Amino acid sequence: MKIVVSKNHKESSTKVAKLISDIINKKNNAVLGLATGSSVEDTYKELVKMYEQKILSFKNISTINLDEYIGLAPSHKQSYRYFMNSHLFSKVDIDINNTFIPLGNEDNVDKALLDFQNILDKKTRDFQLLGIGSNGHIAFNEPAKKLYSNAHIVSIAQSTIEANSRFFNSIDEVPKKAFTQGIGDILKAKKIALIATGDSKIDAIKSLTNDDKISTSSPATFLKLHSDVTIFIDEHLFNKI
Ligand code: GLP
Repeated sequence: MKIVVSKNHKESSTKVAKLISDIINKKNNAVLGLATGSSVEDTYKELVKMYEQKILSFKNISTINLDEYIGLAPSHKQSYRYFMNSHLFSKVDIDINNTFIPLGNEDNVDKALLDFQNILDKKTRDFQLLGIGSNGHIAFNEPAKKLYSNAHIVSIAQSTIEANSRFFNSIDEVPKKAFTQGIGDILKAKKIALIATGDSKIDAIKSLTNDDKISTSSPATFLKLHSDVTIFIDEHLFNKI
């Protein structure tokens, strides 16, 4: 596991965006695994900038997201589909039909889950972008006795509901369940970059960097099993781990 330390989060984001643009420029039909959350917003801003400068095109790129809230329609401002459309997809030349996020308001959740796993099995990710929860969750794989390898439906941890409630009008509006890629799905990506910032992430990052233990109580530690993972953090966070 490599750690790249930058002056600040903006610089980390620029480095991650450069990594993604290098992958796209090498393979113009690359499959990207994408993430949502405040930690990745600046990465998408940088990618949009590169597109506007005409040094990057998403024309033949396809994407698969990590997760989606169950119960939120794509038009809901806090759905991950809305996040991706507004932060990246509507601002670049990607074909929206080549972007996959499970449908959060699909009545038939079993079908939505099957569609998700089918596309994950069909399309190998050349790259996976990750944030991390303060409890060490990746995608929506929450700390638990057992973790799942494949895509599944998860009950979101109370601490994550509380953390994510900052985006909603009230905590009661935060969905309690989500679709998520499993740990095995995430580990199948050829290359992984995890970006983190802020004091709330100290313990989660420590569990990745301070020893070689793997534990279901900190799902991100399973990334230690992958041979090409880079963690991008800023000096402020680095000095605290
Ligand atoms: C959510 C997402 C995760 C994300 C995490 C951290 O729960 N499911 O994929 O990594 O939040 O988000 P943030 O970057 O906003 O701290």
